[in-house]
Amino acid sequence: VPEKDLSGLTVIVTAGPTVEPIDPVRYLSNRSSGKMGYAMACAAARRGARVILISGPTSLKPPHGVELIRVETALQMYDAVMEHFPGADVVVKSAAVADYRPKAVSPQKIKKHGRDLTIELEKNPDILAELGRRKKHQILVGFAAETEELETNARQKLESKNLDLLVANDVTQPGAGFGSDTNIARLVYPGGRTVPLPKMDKLLLAHRILDEVQALRKVQQ
Ligand code: PMT
Repeated sequence: VPEKDLSGLTVIVTAGPTVEPIDPVRYLSNRSSGKMGYAMACAAARRGARVILISGPTSLKPPHGVELIRVETALQMYDAVMEHFPGADVVVKSAAVADYRPKAVSPQKIKKHGRDLTIELEKNPDILAELGRRKKHQILVGFAAETEELETNARQKLESKNLDLLVANDVTQPGAGFGSDTNIARLVYPGGRTVPLPKMDKLLLAHRILDEVQALRKVQQ
């Protein structure tokens, strides 16, 4: 691993799930443990970057030396990311952001009754797509958790969100995606290049992604 090759850079990493309240005791969320994002933050900090880790609820210990901002909902994550974006050089969006939130949050616990219950959902803003619109010098790295059509869906996300790199993981494969200590990723670049990677420890993958970020910065300069 290169020593301190990111010193002087500010890196925003998002991690974990978002949780979207239904009522005071219930929420909608997803299976993200935060491991991938915390590994990204850990790797970037070890390489000398100033790291702002914006994290949904996880049970993980924050890596040494990172600035941790805890959030719960996608809207809170949106605000925290936008606040720090102008001063950032790199953004890595490993969080699994909820695409939808309950339209109305019940102030009281919803009571059981004899009928079925429908919860209406409204769309959350896409944080990464907004960064893609606002970006100036920043390198934007997205993740894509897919269960089908990995490459087609990944390429569509890369282009529609104006990203510099997208890390696609097929979360149906054992040892990839949510919860595990390893991941199996495919790096997808603008212009059609893709690089399939073997199953790797998430920390090793994080360093590999940061190597790619460094290569992209060199091209940009
Ligand atoms: O946390 P772990 O248990 O270690 O699991 C890791 C992981 C599977 C969560 C991670 O590797 C991963 O794939 N994260 C992205 C999951 C995801 O939300 O993918 P997506 O295809 O729905 O979103 C694509 C990209 O847009 C992501 O970078 C996401 O952060 C971003 N996004 C999505 C929706 C939204 N409203 N705002 C966003 O910024």
